[in-house]
Amino acid sequence: WLQNADTFLQRSIGTNVAAQAEATRTDETDEKDGCKSLYAVQAERQEQAERSVLISCHSRTNDKKFLKYMSRHGNINKYFFYESYGVYAVVEFTNRESVASLLEAVAIPSISHESVVPFKSRLLSLRNLGSAETPNQLSGKLCQPQTTIPISELIQRLSREETIDQQITSLTESYQLTEENSRLRFLVCSLLKDIAAAYFPECTIKPFGSSVNGFGKLGCDLDMFLDLDGIRGWNVKMPKSGLSLEYQMKRANSERAVTQSILSVVGECVDQFGPGCVGVQKILNARCPLVRFAHQPSGFQCDLTANNRVAMKSTELLYLYGELDPRVRYLVFTVRCWARAHGITSSIPGAWITNFSLTVMVLFFLQRRSSPVIPTLDHLRDLAGPTDKSVIEGNDCTFVSDFSKIQVQSNKETLEQLLCEFFEFYATFPFSRMSINIRKGKEQNKPEMAPLHIQNPFETSLNVSKNVNVTQLERFVALCQESSWLLQQSDTNTPRGGSGGDTVTTWGLATLLLPSQVAGIKGRKRKRREPASERIKSLLESLKNKS
Ligand code: GTP
Ligand code: MG
Repeated sequence: WLQNADTFLQRSIGTNVAAQAEATRTDETDEKDGCKSLYAVQAERQEQAERSVLISCHSRTNDKKFLKYMSRHGNINKYFFYESYGVYAVVEFTNRESVASLLEAVAIPSISHESVVPFKSRLLSLRNLGSAETPNQLSGKLCQPQTTIPISELIQRLSREETIDQQITSLTESYQLTEENSRLRFLVCSLLKDIAAAYFPECTIKPFGSSVNGFGKLGCDLDMFLDLDGIRGWNVKMPKSGLSLEYQMKRANSERAVTQSILSVVGECVDQFGPGCVGVQKILNARCPLVRFAHQPSGFQCDLTANNRVAMKSTELLYLYGELDPRVRYLVFTVRCWARAHGITSSIPGAWITNFSLTVMVLFFLQRRSSPVIPTLDHLRDLAGPTDKSVIEGNDCTFVSDFSKIQVQSNKETLEQLLCEFFEFYATFPFSRMSINIRKGKEQNKPEMAPLHIQNPFETSLNVSKNVNVTQLERFVALCQESSWLLQQSDTNTPRGGSGGDTVTTWGLATLLLPSQVAGIKGRKRKRREPASERIKSLLESLKNKS
């Protein structure tokens, strides 16, 4: 039912992106983004995206002729094909001049009975370049789907592994964003920047959230941040003499009002002139105003925000934690997948625990080990240097950016032990009295009566899980109890698949992804009523808000 409902309600026309990659050359640095700060990774990817174009091809396009044609405009650094309601190619040139040369050469179509807006974007369409002899050359040979595999296939794959630790790493490898998917995300941001640049020529659009924090799953939404901070003269101290902008001609009475008007015009521009941008909704009265739309050629569901620097900081923090110890990412991926399989999280807003809250819960658990796997946020703040200082809207967002200053922790627990302990930890956590706090790395007394209280790491008076109701929290706890129990049974934790035969018996982590046995019976009975009614309620709410 959940799956049907999701399909029905999916606003995105293309979450089912099948992306395929064929790299002509992969820089060694591409594989080793690991040690870099998020800023360095972002800057490099943004620069690559500026040199790239997105081209709608025919599935019979001859790839060799296509590349030969493209290389007339300059040296190609990297390219790949993917499928999303048609075949597309991403082509990255070595120099930006090649993009300019290519755009010089493109024709603006003139079609009878239809008029074209002459906006030269880097989303192009290829015509009549000679077909391959064999049909479906691109989609058949070079394009392999890049969506996550269905859960049933994942269960089979995991059951073939020999240890639970291998199952956990295999799950992460099956689900995480690929190199190409990540490039595509930056390219879509760069295409959007070209549109926003009509109003703000010096702006940038940066991805944040799971697209870049290391915890993104193929198919996750693309959160974007319209950044105007780089505009020269912004935040510079007023000189005693000289010129400044005449702001009083156009001013708003709050930063929020400015953000709303910026997003309103940019949203309008995306709606009117953004090639491939469909279903544009301006959700300007939300706590964090945003413009939501589907980018059809990439299949991404996009959320564009502005002036959202705290979210950018949380992204940076999550990225840092994920880089400190590989077990962090493995555990977060596993817990997120487990939660999604049991409907603890959902793609529709409502009273569910969000992926962000769930990630913070995993981080907190890792801080609470007797030998902690990761340090507290307060410790990361204490290690910060003068250039790390960051205060956003009165909130202290300072933490160390130099990874080498952070001492490696001595915890040596295996992934299996940690997963088991995670379920045990939350199966017995005193949610009614205590709040989860990654700043202190220790539970604190709850300041308010919400069923689940997770302190917002940077806006410390806020609760990131304020939306969660008692039913959802109870389901989470019941499933933690069940999973903890299952992992302790020899039936569950003994490998039974082997790598040979066709039929594999589900075991270990794979068992935990099957419909719930104990909590599920309770849960399923409720599921027919409560989540359905809650979903309808939240759907009605969102319709009401829209109207
Ligand atoms: P998925 O999109 O579910 O894969 O995960 P995500 O981490 O991208 O979450 P989401 O798209 O909901 O939010 C994007 C980012 O906004 C998160 O990674 C956080 O950095 C930030 N964010 C989301 N929800 C909250 C919240 O309640 N409080 C704060 N401070 N930040 C949030
Ligand atoms: Mg997201």
